[in-house]
Amino acid sequence: MPNKTEPEKTFTLTNDQTGESVKLPVVEGTYGPHCIDIRGLHKATGHFTLDPSFTATGSCKSKITYIDGDEGVLLHRGYNIKELAKESTYLETCYLLLYGELPQEKELKEFEDVITNHTMVHEQIKEVYEGFRRDAHPMAIMCGVVGTMAAFYHDSLDIWDLEQREISAHRLIAKIPTLAAMAMKYSKGQPYVYPRNDLKFTENFLHMCFSVPAEEYKLRAPVVRAMERILILHADHEQNASTSTVRLAGSSQANPMACIASGITSLWGPSHGGANQAVLEMLDEIGHKDNIPEFLERAKDKNDPFKLMGFGHRVYKNFDPRAEVMKESCDEVLAELGIDNPQLELAMELEKIALNDPYFIDRKLFPNVDFYSGIILKAMGFPVEMFTVLFAVSRTVGWISQWKEMMEGSTLKIGRPRQLYTGEPERPYVPMNKRK
Ligand code: CMC
Repeated sequence: MPNKTEPEKTFTLTNDQTGESVKLPVVEGTYGPHCIDIRGLHKATGHFTLDPSFTATGSCKSKITYIDGDEGVLLHRGYNIKELAKESTYLETCYLLLYGELPQEKELKEFEDVITNHTMVHEQIKEVYEGFRRDAHPMAIMCGVVGTMAAFYHDSLDIWDLEQREISAHRLIAKIPTLAAMAMKYSKGQPYVYPRNDLKFTENFLHMCFSVPAEEYKLRAPVVRAMERILILHADHEQNASTSTVRLAGSSQANPMACIASGITSLWGPSHGGANQAVLEMLDEIGHKDNIPEFLERAKDKNDPFKLMGFGHRVYKNFDPRAEVMKESCDEVLAELGIDNPQLELAMELEKIALNDPYFIDRKLFPNVDFYSGIILKAMGFPVEMFTVLFAVSRTVGWISQWKEMMEGSTLKIGRPRQLYTGEPERPYVPMNKRK
């Protein structure tokens, strides 16, 4: 990890045509590349910057999460994800992300009690589910029902009231698992299972997903632990697409339920959270290890839209530390459940071949967190369509922590990127009978 070095104070930009120069301030964080603060650039030069997909642009300052993509390091509030996955619980990690410090015993107990007491949802929300087709993708349901929460919890929507922001954060962390389990039950045609306050957060979530009136779900410690780890590993990941979506939505002063619903929509895509579902579908499509070379060739072919799902990352260019923990969990869960999983064997073979292939080596493409998570979730009994929903359950705390940080900062201003217009120059309106 790079050490904090002597900061550069300014960065001088010179216009090659006119020879005019402008000095821009350089800001430095605890770690990571220094940033050129370009806020004064347009005023000084009349120019904008152009960075589609934000490959070189920091959108905010944040104290929550740090990623060193070259070294494969992920820190939440300074704590390494590998330690958190081993030592912490999901709710403790939520507390850490939200409040900045690991809780004292009493603080954790109070936080767990608050979350437990918010897990039930308004009974009328059930009727919202009835409006969806049974075969609706559960992510489609989640986009709808999470936004709908704003219609049920009016008393916590004042974004300028600290206490209401707090209640909204607790409600979202507590209720989204309930809504997710209801989406799963609805698509299976099973009755909804109410939360149980005598269970811990992750146990309760598994109970709501898998219990049926005819048979109580038997909790198994290694499975609960694996679920807990999956939740911890996905809890936050700095300014990814869905988090940036939440911040942008929030910058317009939208309510938190609407902001989190917007994060869910962004997460759904296969380049982001939808990759866990896509990995399993890809493994099904590959079918047998003899077919791997053919699929690798397709992944390299720029004329073929096929990509190796679960491989590559915008920030990690060495390895994804979350994928390492996930792989360990995968082995444990399959051993506990006594599953001899041919998909895991296929995934391991695919990983081995891809990691030795010059195309993947040159482009620094490694398995990401989604490569193994689907295999574990499938072994636990989750339908493939639920995988991205589980990602959303876990990421809710990251989204709401980032939203709160933005709301509580001193620089809340609506996000409004500019563009480089490449369309037609102004031209006169053409009446219908003169159009060619
Ligand atoms: N298979 C084949 N080629 C790939 C892949 C892949 N999975 N990922 C990147 N490349 C190639 C890409 O075509 C490009 O090649 P070239 O330089 O010849 O044009 C090069 O690698 C650089 O990739 P990029 O598209 O510029 O990278 P990006 O930062 O824009 O995209 C990514 C990152 C994650 C969207 C992409 O790697 C990808 O689509 N991976 C598969 C989907 C996936 O697993 N997503 C989950 C991400 S981790 C969980 C999360 O945070 O949501």
